[in-house]
Amino acid sequence: MVKVRDHKYQFISARPFAPNLGAEIYDVDLSKKISDEQFSDIAQAFLDHQVLFFKNQKEIPPDVHIAFGKRFGELHAHPAAPTMKGYPEIFEIHADKNSKVANGEFWHSDVSCDDEPPLGTMLQIHIAPDCGGDTMFCDMYAAYEALSNPIKELIGGLTATHESEHLYRGRYSDRGMDDTGTIFPTAVHPVVRTHPETGRKALFVNRTFTTRINELSVDESNVVLNLLFDQAEHINHQIRFNWSINDMAFWDNRCCMHRAIWDYWPEERKGRRVTIKGDRPK
Ligand code: SIN
Repeated sequence: MVKVRDHKYQFISARPFAPNLGAEIYDVDLSKKISDEQFSDIAQAFLDHQVLFFKNQKEIPPDVHIAFGKRFGELHAHPAAPTMKGYPEIFEIHADKNSKVANGEFWHSDVSCDDEPPLGTMLQIHIAPDCGGDTMFCDMYAAYEALSNPIKELIGGLTATHESEHLYRGRYSDRGMDDTGTIFPTAVHPVVRTHPETGRKALFVNRTFTTRINELSVDESNVVLNLLFDQAEHINHQIRFNWSINDMAFWDNRCCMHRAIWDYWPEERKGRRVTIKGDRPK
């Protein structure tokens, strides 16, 4: 039962998750091809809420999941992660009693080390622990907007380096990936980006990939980056989503970050992720 309904949409039901970030979406069955009308409402809700949580879902067949992702654009190939057998477009999220690490344990925007980082990511969880295994999201528009004007002026023209060698080298060896000879991506992006569809400004730095503000000394860069990381991760800008089996989350990497909580070892959590290519941040 949807208690609070956002009446902007005609073909889906949306319940805001928090005033500025996230919405639960009802009355859509993602296990089948959806209508153009529903697609158009979903695309609008995605821009309005930044992360959508599709509730009451059945398991989405891999080809339907891929086709849904492709309605938003070309799909992104992850530079390091293993893919699902027979479906190179699908990245399997998995942690169990044998895992030494779990995916996305630190705040990040997916693969921000790419020159053209992903627009968005669609994750459906099929196996969830009895409790825990939540995913947190934070609002990078709000993080930017809450900065004082002098700090906005300071960071307005700065660029940052986003690296991945430290993260990806050997990361998936336990899942059979041999990365000998692989060169992992590094990119330079503006510290503040303008969302290409909403025109809103968002902070675009994260603890996982961003290593340096290029125009500052190392010491200055460390101070400013830590200030911006703390600002982004402020509790006022966060939400925390608790998964039910077959929930599907779809987040906008251009204006929100996320962090997966691995508090459920030795239990298992498993899902499938499709990622959509984005453009070069400006
Ligand atoms: C990720 O894609 O970063 C992992 C998210 C999650 O497992 O909740």
